[in-house]
Amino acid sequence: MLKVAFIGWRGMVGSVLMGRMIEEGDFAGYEPLFFSTSNVGGKGPDVGFDIPPLQDAYDVKLLSSMDVIVSCQGGDYTKRVYPELHNMGWQGYWIDSASTLRMDPDSIIVLDPVNRHVIDAGLSSGIRTYVGGNCTVSLMLMALAGLFASGHVKWVSSMTYQAASGAGANNMKELISQMRVLGQVAADLLDDPASTAIAVDVAVTKAMRSENFPTKYFSAPLAGSLIPWIDVPMDSGQTREEWKGYVETNKILNTEKNPIPIDGICVRIGAMRCHSQAIVVRLDKDIPIDEIYDMIGNANEWVDIVPNEKESTLKHLSPAAVSGTLKVPVGRLRKMLMGPEYVSVFTVGDQLLWGAAEPVRRMLKIILAR
Ligand code: HSE
Repeated sequence: MLKVAFIGWRGMVGSVLMGRMIEEGDFAGYEPLFFSTSNVGGKGPDVGFDIPPLQDAYDVKLLSSMDVIVSCQGGDYTKRVYPELHNMGWQGYWIDSASTLRMDPDSIIVLDPVNRHVIDAGLSSGIRTYVGGNCTVSLMLMALAGLFASGHVKWVSSMTYQAASGAGANNMKELISQMRVLGQVAADLLDDPASTAIAVDVAVTKAMRSENFPTKYFSAPLAGSLIPWIDVPMDSGQTREEWKGYVETNKILNTEKNPIPIDGICVRIGAMRCHSQAIVVRLDKDIPIDEIYDMIGNANEWVDIVPNEKESTLKHLSPAAVSGTLKVPVGRLRKMLMGPEYVSVFTVGDQLLWGAAEPVRRMLKIILAR
C-alpha cells in the first residue's frame, strides 16, 4: 500500500485540505502518516480511523520512506527538507502548496481542470514535483480557462481585490479586530438617529489613523480602507504578486515559449477568504459575446455564469456569496468601449479552496489513481 505523508495539515490551508479530504472520503486506499514540526508524538487529525501518533517532520530518513509527501507547511519548510530528501536520492512525489518550487523547471504547477494535459505529460515524463499555483492565478484561470483554450487571448489585465486570508490566518483575525475597533468608536453615533454620516466618518478615520489601531500584521489599516501592495517589490515596478500573474499563468498553460502578457495591480481589500478580480481581456479578433459566454461557461463544472444585470450580480458575484464554496462565478461579462476585441469580466473565488487546497487535494488523487 502506498504511504502518504501529510505535513502542515493543521495550518489554514492544511486544515481546509483535511476538511475537503474527509468530505470527499479521500483517506481510503493508502496509508496516511501525519507529521508535525512542533508536536511530535501528539495526536493527528480525525480521519475516521486510528492513525499513529504524529511523526517528526524533520526526520528525512522516515520521510524518504514515503511514496508521496503532501506539504502545506510553507516555503521555509520546503526549502529545508526538499533538497535534503533529493540529496538522499528520494524518488517519491512531492505535492506542495507553497510557492518555493513553482518556477523550478522540474516542477509542474497544478490546476487540473485547466492543465490536466500538462500534468499528465509531466507524470509520463517522470516529473515528481507538483505545486499548487498562486491563488489569484488559479482563480483567474478557473474562471477564464475556456477563453484561454480558444487561443484568442492576446493579453489580460487583472485588477485584483484580494482577501485577508491570502496574507495568513493572523491577518484574517486582524481584519476583524480592525472592524471591531471601527464599530466600537462609531457605536454611539450609529445608535443616535440624529448623528450624521460625516460624524461617523470623522470618528472611524481618527481611529484608523491612531497609533493604537491594530496593524501588526498588515502594517496599515485594511478595514475601511485598502492596501494596493501585496508581497515584495520586483525590478519591473510590479509587486511579486503581480509578477506571478504573468509567469505562473504561462507556466500552467504551457505557453512559456510564446507567453501571453498578463499584468495588473494587486490590491488587498477587507474580504475574509475570497479573492475577486476585475479583468480586461484583449482578444485577437471580434468574437460574438454569446460565444464568449459559452466558451467560459462550458470550460468546467465550477464556473457559474452570472448574467450582467444587477440582481444576479448582487446575489451571486461577491465574496459573501462564494466564501466556503467551490463555485467560481463569472459575471459583468460584456464588450468594452475600447473595441469589440475588448471584454470585461469580474470573477470571485475562494482563496483557500480553488486558490490553495483543492488543486493539491486533486493532485494527490491523480497520483494515487496511477
Ligand atoms: N499571495 C496571495 C495573497 C496568497 O497574498 O493573497 C497566496 O497565493
